[in-house]
Amino acid sequence: MVDYMADYLEGIEGRQVFPDVCPGYLRSLIPTTAPQEPETFEAIIEDVEKIIMPGVTHWHSPYFFAYFPTASSYPAMLADMLCGAIGCIGFSWAASPACTELETVMMDWLGKMLQLPEAFLAGEAGEGGGVIQGTASEATLVALLAARTKVTRRLQAASPELTQAAIMEKLVAYASDQAHSSVEKAGLIGGVRLKAIPSDGKFAMRASALQEALERDKAAGLIPFFVVATLGTTSCCSFDNLLEVGPICHEEGLWLHVDAAYAGSAFICPEFRHLLNGVEFADSFNFNPHKWLLVNFDCSAMWVKKRTDLTGAFRLDPVYLRHSHQDSGLITDYRHWQLPLGRRFRSLKMWFVFRMYGVKGLQAYIRKHVQLAHAFEALVRQDARFEICAEVTLGLVCFRLKGSNKLNEALLESINSAKKIHLVPCSLRDRFVLRFAICSRTVELAHVQLAWEHIREMAAAVLRAQEEEKADKAEGPAVGRSHHDIVPLTVLRDQT
Ligand SMILES: Cc1ncc(COP(=O)(O)O)c(C=O)c1O
Repeated sequence: MVDYMADYLEGIEGRQVFPDVCPGYLRSLIPTTAPQEPETFEAIIEDVEKIIMPGVTHWHSPYFFAYFPTASSYPAMLADMLCGAIGCIGFSWAASPACTELETVMMDWLGKMLQLPEAFLAGEAGEGGGVIQGTASEATLVALLAARTKVTRRLQAASPELTQAAIMEKLVAYASDQAHSSVEKAGLIGGVRLKAIPSDGKFAMRASALQEALERDKAAGLIPFFVVATLGTTSCCSFDNLLEVGPICHEEGLWLHVDAAYAGSAFICPEFRHLLNGVEFADSFNFNPHKWLLVNFDCSAMWVKKRTDLTGAFRLDPVYLRHSHQDSGLITDYRHWQLPLGRRFRSLKMWFVFRMYGVKGLQAYIRKHVQLAHAFEALVRQDARFEICAEVTLGLVCFRLKGSNKLNEALLESINSAKKIHLVPCSLRDRFVLRFAICSRTVELAHVQLAWEHIREMAAAVLRAQEEEKADKAEGPAVGRSHHDIVPLTVLRDQT
């Protein structure tokens, strides 16, 4: 298996980044029921190459520039193998003490790498601390539910006649109109209204827009209680203004959750740490080492200033989960910090990665990706047919052909149909924009340059098709004319 994995990753550049299969391709390739008799490992591995690989999108190909990166490193993979072997379910300290204790210490290590305020660290006797959630979506939901409980209890303490239902129907949460859909989902699951705050010209949430919404809602008898600020939005990697939004949340007594799912990893570099300024106003902070910090999925790091906000909201204590140290004040039972009961030994991945790369190795990795993004940005800027659509701060470049949405949709369609590279779009103020995210651990400048050459070829073809269409319209209907002048594709692989 290890040989197969190593061969797969070392040879990934030779595989087409996006599969050719159609929906339902797999069902006809495997039996309709599980085998009655055991099969051999060799038979399964053979089928991996025949059945699974043809349907895999190769996220770690150096030609994958879609979404945001998902982390991949050998230390993390090895740690995950060990995690599988130990196979514990570390919901409480007693359920596997090393699983709990390593997680608390790793979250402190990581918090220190980011220079998080001391209040977020567990330390020897801190009130805060970190937990590994599965995803940023879960972290936002956990924060929202904890904030909901906190405000409900506060209001009921002041006015005991208020029912939970009466409070719930008035609660309002806020996030920028650029926030990830998981924030809206948290509102849906949490049963509270979520309002989108219009972002400014740089796609950032600012004080004035938030303040305006708060005043309007309070005047209407609603109860603001929760704000999500995003550092590194999904569409264009913009940054909400934490230094403006933070003090408002503090003054108004609103829980501030900071979602830095992608960008958070960059804050380990001193030159990017300023992007996190204002986190001192937050109640909870989250980012995904499983995106950009070489710790394979799943590993979403969440810190709170007051861990009693979580344990107070989610604590239930059936006899079968109790243990003799739970109230000693010395240990953490992570089951009270999350939605599920079960949890894997995920901190092993952090420990292996942090030790085998060192902080310096991780910083170098982030810096290289940011440099590659700027190199791509420079290439785009040299071509007057294109425009850059948002400031390039980290590893994401938003760009488009100057022209209509239809033209850019055609460009993306032709790029993704050719399957030499893979991109996804976003919408910025109703403009269809292509996103170029530096993703793979092994991506080099040469791959970025080849990707850009390929995009230029595709652009030339769609522009030519557009011109032909215009000419056709001007000339009126004609028979036998070619509408689709297909340009031969550069075979990227052969050039590397
Ligand atoms: C800003 C932001 N928040 C949240 C998420 C959701 O992440 P997850 O898959 O960990 O829930 C993403 C995903 O890309 C994101 O970019």
